[in-house]
Order: sequence, then structure tokens, then C-alpha cells
Amino acid sequence: MSEKISRVGIIGAGQMGAGIAEVCARAHADVLVYESTRELAAAGRSRILRSLDRGVSSGKLTEREREQASLRLRFTSDLGDFADRQMVCEAVVEDEAVKTEIFKELDKVVTDPSAVLASNTSSIPIMKLGMATANAHRVVGMHFFNPVPVLPLVELVTTLMTSDDVTTRAEDFARDILGKQVVRSSDRSGFVVNALLVPYLLSAIRMVESGFATVEDIDKAMVLGCAHPMGPLKLSDLVGLDTVKAIADKMYEEFKEPLYSPPPLLLRMVEAGRLGKKAGHGFYVYA
Ligand code: CAA
Ligand code: NAD
Repeated sequence: MSEKISRVGIIGAGQMGAGIAEVCARAHADVLVYESTRELAAAGRSRILRSLDRGVSSGKLTEREREQASLRLRFTSDLGDFADRQMVCEAVVEDEAVKTEIFKELDKVVTDPSAVLASNTSSIPIMKLGMATANAHRVVGMHFFNPVPVLPLVELVTTLMTSDDVTTRAEDFARDILGKQVVRSSDRSGFVVNALLVPYLLSAIRMVESGFATVEDIDKAMVLGCAHPMGPLKLSDLVGLDTVKAIADKMYEEFKEPLYSPPPLLLRMVEAGRLGKKAGHGFYVYA
């Protein structure tokens, strides 16, 4: 039987990597986070500390728990430091070439033959990442949702090559250690949630593009008419318009369905750097 996972690695400390690192540290794991430069690591650390502070101010964490969680987080710019990790979750930009390189490197470094090498990709088939390694049996998709400390779901994506042992370890970790709920998905671009969500977000962007209704009215309609916590344009801003575009491109590549094709307005906004909340400007302007 494999050892219980306590040494975790997270690659990338953007919105998702920071969130996953935070929930792992709050669940008492020893967490090593990779960012390529010191500046990015510092930005990632402050993102996590801000979120832990928010946990304290909303009464979900005590001061001591925040302190303990922050002490469990270390940062590095050397993937070589991941050798002793039992579980690594990659959460870098939604770009197949970048992720493939990382998996190739990680596989050489991580020594435990039953370590879980997971990707938080939204849309890249996990097999493509598994086949970049010499040990595709260790590779799974663990798809967390934004914001990670708030949303309870993890989609667990296994490939034709993932071993049962690695699948069980990943599922037990997400459910028993992180306290998340797990649904299983086959290895298709978009998995379960994005196969349903992305066409909806793109349809809302097409509505704005055609002048059919305003950004504010489309969002208001879905919040008040369907009890969604936020409308599709605010949600696109939260996800990041670069990420929405990258997901749509991948899903279109897989299925060739027009409903996944990114509308020109989305392309133009990404070209303009209006990437949503993280850039301070998307469909809305953020202070
Ligand atoms: N980190 C930690 N906690 C956060 C947070 C964050 N980034 N954002 C919000 N919270 C917490 C707040 O502290 C607050 O906690 P309390 O209730 O204990 O006070 C709670 O969440 C609610 O927050 P707010 O009152 O500030 O704001 P809200 O009620 O408007 O909720 C929201 C904000 C949680 C983001 C909510 O609007 C929501 O759930 N929106 C939908 C998000 C969604 O659909 N995400 C999925 C995106 S798709 C995806 O992730 C997959 C993909 O591949 C693209
Ligand atoms: P982000 O833009 O907030 O962060 C991107 C991360 O990638 C940063 O850590 C950045 O330093 C790193 N990065 C960028 N270019 C890189 C490169 N060339 N080499 C190595 N690292 C690089 O993005 P995010 O929203 O955190 O998304 C990260 C992953 O999580 C993506 O695969 C995305 O599809 C997935 N995801 C996103 C959401 C969401 O709502 N944003 C939800 C679930 C899954």
C-alpha cells in the first residue's frame, strides 16, 4: 500500500496554483510551490497570504491556523527540488507546449513510482501530458474550481494509462485530506463542467458582440432569473479571458463544433490585454 500523501508540490502560483497551494497547506500538507522567478513567487505568496487573511476575517480560520498554514508553504524556482514529492499538481498557463515540458521534467525528477502527477488543466486531454512522460500511469487530471478555497469540487480525470493505485491515491487525497467532493470524468477536452459551461460563456459573449443585450443586463438576467451566483460575463472575467479563449481553442480543436469556437470579441479583448479581473479590466473594470 502507498504511503498517505503529506508532501505536495504545486507548479504555478497564479490564481489556481495559489488556491490549490492554500487548501493543501490548510489541510496540513507540506507544500512546495514552483514559480519560474523570485518576483512571481513573491506575488504568489502574497496572493495566498491575502486569501488566508480573508479566511481569518470571515471567521473560517483562526490566527494560529493562518500562521501554521503559512509556515507549511515554501517556494522554489528549481523543479529539481520536487524529487521527494508524493503528489504534484501543475497549474500553469493553459498552454499544451508549456505543460508538456513541465511533465517531461517532473517525471524525471519525482522518484516515488506511485507519486501522483496531476494537472489542473481545464481542457487539455490528460493523455497528451501522460505521453510526455516515461510513466504515464502516474498522470491524472485533478481539476479544481475557482475560487479553490470556496468551491468544493474536483473533477478527477483518468486516462487509458493511469494506474488504479494512482487514481485511488488522487481521489483519497482530494476527498479525505482536502475535503473536496470528487466526480469522475473520462479524458475528453473540457471534461464534464467545461463541456457545459464554456458554450454558455461563449454564447453570452456572442450576445454582447451582436448588441442583443448589455453586459450588465445579461449578467443580471442570469443572477436574478436563474439564481446563478454571478452572471456569465463576470464569471468569464473571474476565470480570465485568456484562459476562456485557450479552453475554447482546445475544445474546438477536439470536437470541431462551432459552439466552442471563440468569438472575435473575445479574441480582440485578449489581444488588448483586457484579461478580466486579474488584469483589472475585462467586461468590467476592477479597482
Ligand atoms: N478566496 C477565498 N475565499 C473567497 C474568495 C477567494 N478568492 N472569493 C470569495 N471567497 C469567500 C468569501 O470570503 C466569502 O466567505 P464567507 O461567506 O465565509 O464570508 C464567500 O467566499 C463569498 O464571497 P463574497 O461575499 O466576497 O462574494 P460572493 O458572495 O459574491 O461570492 C464567489 C464570490 C465565491 C466567487 C461566488 O460569486 C461564486 O461562487 N461565483 C461562481 C464561481 C464559479 O462558477 N466558479 C467556477 C468557474 S469555472 C472553473 O473554475 C473551471 C475552469 O476550468 C475554468
Ligand atoms: P493565471 O494566469 O492566474 O496563472 C498562470 C500561471 O502560469 C502563473 O503561475 C504563471 O507564472 C505561470 N506561467 C505562465 N507562463 C508560463 C510559462 N511559460 N512557463 C511556466 N509557467 C508559466 O492562470 P490560472 O487561472 O491560475 O490558470 C492556471 C491553470 O488552471 C490553467 O491550466 C487553467 O486552465 C486552469 N484552471 C483555471 C481556472 C480559472 O477559473 N482560472 C479554473 C480551473 C482550472
